[in-house]
Amino acid sequence: SKEKHKISIGFSQSIDHDIWRKSMDHAMEVEAAIHPEINLTIYNANRKASKQIRDIQRFIDNKVDIIIVSPFESDSIIPVIERANGIGIPVIIVDRKVNTSNYTAYIGADNVEVGRIAGRHIVSLSKGKANVIQIKGASYASPGLERSMGFSEIISQYPNIKVISIDAQKDELPEDAFIKTLEKSPNINYVYAYNDVIAYQAWKAAKGKIATNQIKFIGVDGINGPNGGIQLVKDRVLEATVLYPTGGSEAIKLALKIANNEIVPKSTKLNTTLIDSLNADIMSNQFDRISIQQSNIEEQQNIIKKQVKEYATQNILLKLLFSL
Ligand code: FRU
Repeated sequence: SKEKHKISIGFSQSIDHDIWRKSMDHAMEVEAAIHPEINLTIYNANRKASKQIRDIQRFIDNKVDIIIVSPFESDSIIPVIERANGIGIPVIIVDRKVNTSNYTAYIGADNVEVGRIAGRHIVSLSKGKANVIQIKGASYASPGLERSMGFSEIISQYPNIKVISIDAQKDELPEDAFIKTLEKSPNINYVYAYNDVIAYQAWKAAKGKIATNQIKFIGVDGINGPNGGIQLVKDRVLEATVLYPTGGSEAIKLALKIANNEIVPKSTKLNTTLIDSLNADIMSNQFDRISIQQSNIEEQQNIIKKQVKEYATQNILLKLLFSL
């Protein structure tokens, strides 16, 4: 039979648990299921740079066809990425950047633009006069740095917008520091957090302590579904979120192209946009529709797989019959 050559893809995920990472893994799994020739293996480094390096090395040792990496840190994994690249295994980087250009392709949204969108939103809501707490993301990875860079770029043009910044180095709310800041500065109008999870943690921490209805919370990610940022906007917990797509399905599609020897762009920019109460419903409807379509395709693939198997067994039976 003319069975299609299998393509083995190793994906090194950096962080477990959180909804954005799970959504990325899920998008990859769904996209891989649609293409039966793909064999996808996911390792999770659980926030440990050293584990991520070992995971990628394992993919190299196992001679996978393509490696996809969603980096934890931007520097420590440079050597192992360059090693894979050096021996000719294509490497696709998703989301956080690596500080080398020795990889095949990068996929991700523009985090500077994400920060600018949040900044512009505060400018337009406040007409250029506000007190803001910015909860910054980790500085060892590009999104934290770039989101606050874009935010400052906009806000610094408005002298009547005052920003107090605190750090969320571990991707979670530094609750004590946050509450202390709130108590010291009672006139806060906005909290702009590195991501929706932290924005939600801040909202919960502030609730009960102060009248949260006078503070507008803004996050980043805009994951669809229960507990995601879009739902938080619909529930009026968050005033807004900035969509930051995971790139999961795009990464698998790109891997397929590379496996088929197509030329791919070195960098693919994913779209980002503001989600607030005006478009939250439209956005979640769109995402729901996409996932229904994907599961339909998946179902069809399973039916085809089953038929192929049945056909094979029938063939064996026929051959047996004729050999009698
Ligand atoms: C999840 C996360 C997201 C963020 C991305 C950036 O682990 O922190 O909230 O958008 O990683 O790397």
